[in-house]
Amino acid sequence: MAYKVVLLAGDGTGPEVMREGVKILKVVQEAFGASFELLPYPCGGQYYLETGEEWPAEAFQSCKTADAILLGAVGHPDARLPNGDLAGAGVVFGLRFGLDLYANVRPVKLYPGVRHKVHEEFREVWRPGLVDFVVVRENTEGLYTPARGFLSRGGTTELAVDSRVITRKGAERAVRFAFELAVRRGGAPKDRKHRVTCVDKSNVTAGDQLFRKVFDEVAAKYPQVERDYAYIDAFTQWIVRSPEQYDVCVAPNEFGDIATDLAAVLQGGMGVAAGGNIGDAHAMFEPIHGSTPKHAGQDKVNPVAMILAVEMMLDWLGDRKGDRKLTAAAKGVESAVAAVLREGKVLTYDLGGTAKCSEVGTEIAKRVAAKT
Ligand code: IPM
Ligand code: MG
Repeated sequence: MAYKVVLLAGDGTGPEVMREGVKILKVVQEAFGASFELLPYPCGGQYYLETGEEWPAEAFQSCKTADAILLGAVGHPDARLPNGDLAGAGVVFGLRFGLDLYANVRPVKLYPGVRHKVHEEFREVWRPGLVDFVVVRENTEGLYTPARGFLSRGGTTELAVDSRVITRKGAERAVRFAFELAVRRGGAPKDRKHRVTCVDKSNVTAGDQLFRKVFDEVAAKYPQVERDYAYIDAFTQWIVRSPEQYDVCVAPNEFGDIATDLAAVLQGGMGVAAGGNIGDAHAMFEPIHGSTPKHAGQDKVNPVAMILAVEMMLDWLGDRKGDRKLTAAAKGVESAVAAVLREGKVLTYDLGGTAKCSEVGTEIAKRVAAKT
């Protein structure tokens, strides 16, 4: 039976990286005996400029019945909704909120041979294995709760309000996801201890006090996992100074959003950072870099983030369907990516190479096919 995978390539460099993701899926079909029915739909800011909609209604329907969803990127510089919001973001939030994808899972891993980007000119290779943690970002509430607005526009009394909602249910399921993940992982690079860090601002906000209280309640059920706490401001400092102490970190929505862009710097940049938006019944996987319009159409950007999103999808689907072929395929894709990065011969510009997006995709696909 073929697994149905919805493809939402979207804007800017989204279609270019999606092409490479599809290249990998096709090779996975042959090399691992998996079968996919690919269902592409247009979406995003460009589509909005052409049609007045962010995506066709049937795309969301299709996502509801699909086995998994892959998203490229959304966002076009000229495409704004009448209320000023970015056109295309409705696709991302339509999926996250509409399919209840409550855990945004963002691995932060520096592969051997890849240089961190703490400074673009001073590019050291860090000791391999130093950076290997996962941020679980709560994905359905927090500051992203769509309860916001302008009380008055213009003038000196102009005022805008965003409501930051933290619920017991929202916090609990994200925290539980983080602990379940920690149990399955190999621990933090520093000491191999299973550890979950609660990242919040509970020294100030009520929502974060609830988040931390729920964290402690859930943690009590996982005595084999160490509890750790960090205020978000200090956390941004510590992940740069000593990333090796982190294993799994869980944070409310907006803190997880900000921390993972910073964390991408530790893993070689946004070109290698992937994420999964995971719920109990559905999941969507994406590179987290966005549409980067200035590079669009040049076959230039790094497809590794998209390919690692495909890897996460295969792993999730393998687990969910009890399909070992997919689990093996996920491992195969990760080793292929790791081999290409380690050898350092076929890399895009962001990692110091001269290869095109499609060349890196082809090189990784070759390794997946050869199972090396
Ligand atoms: C991300 C992005 C999105 C977010 C934007 C595009 C709405 O920054 O996935 O991290 O803030 O969630
Ligand atoms: Mg972000």
